Amino acid sequence: MSEPERIVGAIRCLLAERDLVGRHIVVTAGPTVEDIDPVRYVTNRSSGKMGFAIAERAAERGARVTLVAGPVSLQTPQGVERTDVRGALEMQASLDRVLGKALDGADALIMAAAVADYRVADVADKKLKREANTMTLSLLKNPDILAGIGQRRTGQWPILVGFAVETADDDALIQLGRQKLQEKRIDVVVANHASEALGADTNRVWLVTETEQQLVSTAPKLVVADAILGWLARTFAEQK
Ligand code: CTP
Repeated sequence: MSEPERIVGAIRCLLAERDLVGRHIVVTAGPTVEDIDPVRYVTNRSSGKMGFAIAERAAERGARVTLVAGPVSLQTPQGVERTDVRGALEMQASLDRVLGKALDGADALIMAAAVADYRVADVADKKLKREANTMTLSLLKNPDILAGIGQRRTGQWPILVGFAVETADDDALIQLGRQKLQEKRIDVVVANHASEALGADTNRVWLVTETEQQLVSTAPKLVVADAILGWLARTFAEQK
């Protein structure tokens, strides 16, 4: 990190509301990359910016932050412990290690990563050669990491935050978000539109819970991150 960025980071940290002190927050970010062969892969357009912004602000608000990142070219925010992973299975294994069997390794999990829904069934260990005119890739469904954790959770901890990227209008976005909330047994879904979220430096999101939906209007991802963390801090306070 360059000197000015470090100074700005330190000032922001001093001015920040320190409402997450004593909390361990695990954040996932970026896409997962599913290999086809040693030179090719399947992935999606996630840049990782939203998850990294959450990790940055959570650390500035006093939390201990573990960031599990798919392949992205972003700098690790100051004070954040980062583990890099590639595929969905590797991300799942990394979270299992951090959270532990009893899920008591963290106070909250924020799944901002765009986990690939499918992985390649047979990853070739040698480069595939161009032969026939058509080629069929056989894909296997990846485990739903967040739903698995939601199912294993017996009490209220850790707080589980999911994301939903859709291409639907606001009403459908909220409805799909609430559906995901119930299916995955999580506490809040950050629902956003693909055209406003992917790769952008700003975002506009709905925070969808069982009973409410709150709009966070278009703002830089650091500001959106703060809104999500504000919800989390309030939830921590209520469940104390
Ligand atoms: N997620 C996960 N494991 C997966 C897929 C997604 O943990 N295999 C998490 C993401 O990190 C995100 C949320 O679940 O927090 C997204 O939900 P999902 O239903 O997978 O969204 P989509 O992939 O957009 O689902 P669909 O394509 O069915 O709409």
